Amino acid sequence: MADTLHKVIEETRQGEAYSPFANDPNQYSKKFYIESYGCQMNFSDSEIVASILQEEGFGATRNFEEASLVLLNTCSIREKAEQTVRHRLQAFRKVKEQKPGMLVGVLGCMAERLKAKFLEEEKLVDIVVGPDAYRSLPGLISEAETGQKSVNVLLSREETYADIAPVRLDSNGVTAFVSIMRGCNNMCTFCVVPFTRGRERSRDAESIVNECRDLFERGYREVTLLGQNVDSYYYNPAEDETQAVTFGRLLEKVAIISPLLRIRFSTSHPKDITDDVLHTMARYENICKYIHLPVQSGSTRILQMMNRTYTREWYLAKVQRIREIMPDCGISTDVISGFCTETEEEHQDTLSMMELCRYDMAYMFSYSERPGTLAARRYQDDVPEEVKKRRLEEIINLQNSHSRESYKNDIGKTFKVLIEGDSKRSELKWCGRNSQNKMTVFPKGDRQLTKGDYVNVTITDATAATLIGEIVN
Ligand code: SAH
Ligand code: SF4
Ligand code: F3S
Repeated sequence: MADTLHKVIEETRQGEAYSPFANDPNQYSKKFYIESYGCQMNFSDSEIVASILQEEGFGATRNFEEASLVLLNTCSIREKAEQTVRHRLQAFRKVKEQKPGMLVGVLGCMAERLKAKFLEEEKLVDIVVGPDAYRSLPGLISEAETGQKSVNVLLSREETYADIAPVRLDSNGVTAFVSIMRGCNNMCTFCVVPFTRGRERSRDAESIVNECRDLFERGYREVTLLGQNVDSYYYNPAEDETQAVTFGRLLEKVAIISPLLRIRFSTSHPKDITDDVLHTMARYENICKYIHLPVQSGSTRILQMMNRTYTREWYLAKVQRIREIMPDCGISTDVISGFCTETEEEHQDTLSMMELCRYDMAYMFSYSERPGTLAARRYQDDVPEEVKKRRLEEIINLQNSHSRESYKNDIGKTFKVLIEGDSKRSELKWCGRNSQNKMTVFPKGDRQLTKGDYVNVTITDATAATLIGEIVN
């Protein structure tokens, strides 16, 4: 039986999924299995969920067959993300048929979007929990154990899980995510996040710094500060301007923990990233020179329809400012093809924007209408699917050539790289990132190094996504 179940599950397994694992699951009487989909916030939330469950005597397992509780932390950002989860649920239905006591819970954005409807649509689901309701999981599990279906999708204006120490899942022991805020107030018209994650709120600055310091003391060497719009971080409980912690100030507080702790952050909204943040980045060597700056479109008219609140020119000026202050800064982006009413000319504007910005990397999508969003209510999704796909292909092809060029341009340069572990292909090689977030692979040689160490690497070759080099002194 085990083999067939494995097969069913593996066949529907998607690249995005992962199954976290606690150090010694045998010390717990009950076991849970969790898969996370979507953005880094979801992966980070799964670590909060693991902490809450651990308090209840649940240990994480990589093997869903020994779990009495199976959780899917879901994403609603595009229709395809939801389809992936539904396929996964179908696979678990087969497992549950043979293991009736097993509980299946749906967490995250899809739980929030569909609420109790989930229970009608997917009969095998026992528990539905939204992103602000994870503290109620123990109660919901008890309820479900008595055979009832249980749901909590209340959103909160305050919840930041600031006091919960995440249990690091599937960690390399070197890099970790730290959530600094939740929700989003921006209302980009295409986006479901404001509805699934609720209002924006910033987490207590001291709890963030303490979590980062604790990670450093446990051997971690890189933290990524997470939020949908990190530049609007603002923590000011005393309502005293002089004590307010802005994102720039927070970056500095984390940077001074130790010069050996690297700091990254994601995501920046072009309208909110300030000179203060850029100067703070430039001032501290350990704040990585890399900014993910989603552009979405190169056309001012489309940007306005998306409610991004900047123009093409404003965005370009921002990129120029980043390059003025930090000439070596890596920049990546997100692009959407075929948003409502986008013309061929406006699509060309996106391509020319990419030519001007020369991104090192990009995430590229075709527009997927999401129920309930402002765009779904206001506009017609009128660009034919094949046009969206063709435009997306042009965007991807152009970006591939830019990525290749960007990586090739690094040949001959020397970078400080933080070793994250063995390279995927060979135990004889290390892999790690440079400050600009480029993955770098190089032979271990005979130097006594370990993951978490910094080394200087001179680049000798490159693909469109990896730098290849040699350690130098
Ligand atoms: N908070 C981040 C983005 C979060 S979602 C920001 O503001 O930049 C990640 C990316 O998914 C977005 O940048 C966008 O490019 C893409 N995306 C969001 N909604 C989408 C939709 N309905 N269709 C296609 N792509 C979408
Ligand atoms: Fe969505 Fe816009 Fe908020 Fe990003 S900033 S999460 S795209 S609404
Ligand atoms: Fe997806 Fe929710 Fe993140 S919709 S992208 S998991 S905030």
